[in-house]
Order: sequence, then C-alpha cells, then structure tokens
Amino acid sequence: MHCTVPYIALMKNANIAAEHASMHRALPVDLFTGLLAIAADAVIALDHEQRIIFFNQGAERIFGWAAAEVGGKFIEVLLPERYRSAHRGHVAGFGAAHGHARLMGDRQQISGLRKSGEEFAAEAAIERIEVDGRNIYAAVLRDISARQRAEDALRQAVQGRDDMMGIVSHDLRNPANAVKMLARSILEGDPAASVADVMDRVAIIRQAADQIDALIQDLLDVTRLEAGYLTVRPTPADVGLIVTTSIESLGPLAEAGGVALSATLPDAPLVVLADRDRLGQLLSNLIGNAIKFTPAGGRVTIAVIPRDTDVEFEITDTGEGIAPDQLPHVFDRFHQASASRRGSRHSAGLGLPISRGIVEAHGGRIWLESESGTGTTVRFTLPRSAPAF
Ligand SMILES: Nc1ncnc2c1ncn2[C@@H]1O[C@H](COP(=O)(O)OP(=O)(O)OP(=O)(O)O)[C@@H](O)[C@H]1O
Ligand SMILES: [Mg+2]
Repeated sequence: MHCTVPYIALMKNANIAAEHASMHRALPVDLFTGLLAIAADAVIALDHEQRIIFFNQGAERIFGWAAAEVGGKFIEVLLPERYRSAHRGHVAGFGAAHGHARLMGDRQQISGLRKSGEEFAAEAAIERIEVDGRNIYAAVLRDISARQRAEDALRQAVQGRDDMMGIVSHDLRNPANAVKMLARSILEGDPAASVADVMDRVAIIRQAADQIDALIQDLLDVTRLEAGYLTVRPTPADVGLIVTTSIESLGPLAEAGGVALSATLPDAPLVVLADRDRLGQLLSNLIGNAIKFTPAGGRVTIAVIPRDTDVEFEITDTGEGIAPDQLPHVFDRFHQASASRRGSRHSAGLGLPISRGIVEAHGGRIWLESESGTGTTVRFTLPRSAPAF
C-alpha cells in the first residue's frame, strides 16, 4: 500500500493534538483508534497529496471499499467524476491557507461515490492538521441518502395532500354549491314555477351529483393505486362487446361535441383476460379524453389489433394533441397538459394515471403518441385469452 504517512502517524498526531489540551492529557492512542472504528460516520484522512491514509470501518461500510483497497489511492476514487477536479483545487487551496488546524467549512452537502458506482448524498466536514510541517486532511462524512429519501417521500406526501385538498376544495365544492343553490331555488322559489322548469333544475342537480360521485370514485381509485390496493378480477371478456358498449355510452358526448366516433373490430371473436368493469372504465377514460380534446368536426377512432399473446387497443383522435414538453407528465396524477381544460367540468387530471394503473394491474402496458395540433394516439395491451366456447 502506498502511504506517505502510515496510519499510526495520524493516530499519534491525534494524540499529540489531544495532549495539548490539558483535559485530555492522558488519553491513549488505542482509545482514539477504538472511537474512530465504531463511529457510524466515515472518518477519512488524506496525506498532503490527497492520498487516503486512514479509512475507518464507517467509511468501509458507507463506500463499500475495504481500507486496504483504497489505502494510498487518491481521494478522487470516492467522488463522482464530475466533482473531481473542483474538489482537488478546493482542498489544495485550503491547504495553502495559513494558520493551524481549522475547519475548512461547516458540514457541506456533497455527493459520494460507492465502490458499486452508486452515487449518494452526504454531509462532510474537512479539517487540516499540520504534521511534521506537512498538511494532513481529516474528513468526516455522513451518508444522508436514507434521510433524503425519507424527506423526499415526506415532501411528496405533503404535496399529495395539498393536491387532494385542492381537488376537494375546488372541484368538489363547485358542484356541491350548485346542488345547494339549485335545491334552495326550488324550495324557496316561486311556488307557481312550472314542472318543466323544476325538472330542468333537478336534472342539473343530478348531473352535479354524478360529477361529485365520479370525482370521489377517481380520488379513491388513485389513492388505492398508490397504496398498491387497486385489484382487478380478470375473466375472459369479449372485446367486441365491451368496445361496442363503450361507444354506445359515449356516443351522446361525442355527438354533443360534434365529434365522429367509430371503431374497427376484427371479424373473428377476440377474447381478453380482463376485469370487465375496469376495462369499461379504462375505455371510457381514454375515449372520453379523445372526445374532450378534439374540436367539433374531428374524429375519434378505436382499433383493436390481435397480437400473439396480447390484444392491442388503439384510440386515435384528430384533436389538439399534446406539446412535447408535456408528454412525459401526462400519466402523473393531477397533471393537466392543456391549460384550456384546467378547472373544467370533471377534469382533475386523474383519468390517465388511473388508466395506467388498470392496464398494469392486468399485466399490460400503455403508451401515448401525440403531436400538437394534429392529434393523439393512446395504445394499451391486455393479455389474450383463448375464446371461451
Ligand atoms: N387525447 C388527448 N388529446 C390531448 N390531450 C390529452 C389527451 N388525453 C390526455 N390529454 C392531456 O393529458 C392530461 C391528463 O389527462 P387525464 O385524463 O389524466 O386528465 P383530465 O382528462 O384532464 O381529467 P380527468 O381525466 O380527471 O377528468 C389532460 O389534461 C390533457 O392535457
Ligand atoms: Mg381524462
């Protein structure tokens, strides 16, 4: 091992430093060696050329190197490539500074590099000590990656709660207020109002209640999904029947939006292993999006393509499309790529994350291609099942 200063020299120095302090006059070298060995943090010493001359057990555990492997190597072996030159200059500059041992800086956040090649977040402090007229650097480093992961998870949970609060306070309150207002207008309004007028208001109340119900259902689904509880009960399901049913139920929406809705189905019967209700919900989400984001005069087409072990579903529209910078985020919950639709009726940015959850719960995959101004195609696969004759 190439060491300019042997391990013990550093330990002696530590002891000498302690001897200068009257309180610690009698502390033996072994005590320091023992303390450094059991420290959970990495304690590393470098010689004046920045070669590793001391590497405690904490450092071995954190970096994955044995002391014998890194002894004599330059400190760079413990740093990600991109920080190496900056770090060397930083330490050299510190070494050139005058004065006796002083703290190079408070604990600083840095990135470490494990033997496995994994980078990790760390907090480190480094100190310069003069031994026989030469600089030795002592560094104490703490692996904070677990703490950071916990902090990230906490931040995400808080963000999730805030998003949920936003949905509840805005998207649920609006229809709830409409229900309250309309019900009051019926109860306290003109007793001579026509039955037709009252029925109109009751119809809007029912629409608002349906909207609240659908949103609550989506919120529950996305919560289940994230907790890993979204379960599906796949049984053999006839694709033609399910697609036709979806088209029938979404026909009025397409008609109201002036969008032509059609499907191309294979002649032979095609059966997938799927939870029928969830497949219906999935198609409704995707076809619903296609209709919603396609202006009047456009087309939405559904195609079903049998593959070897899967069936591929394809929903294509000639709508507004999605900007390239938005594409990677459309499956994130609460993400809405189109500003014009934000805050619109039952539009919470939950349809695609739920759709992905449903597809993945079936062992399938879902992906999306889109071009701004031209249209969007969403594809997903479901496992094929032998026809149930
Ligand atoms: N076919 C499409 N054409 C254009 N943009 C789309 C299409 N499908 C999804 N998007 C974009 O992706 C975003 C997320 O879709 P998602 O279905 O998750 O939410 P949403 O439709 O806005 O609300 P929700 O589904 O909860 O009613 C949409 O807001 C829209 O910006
Ligand atoms: Mg949607």
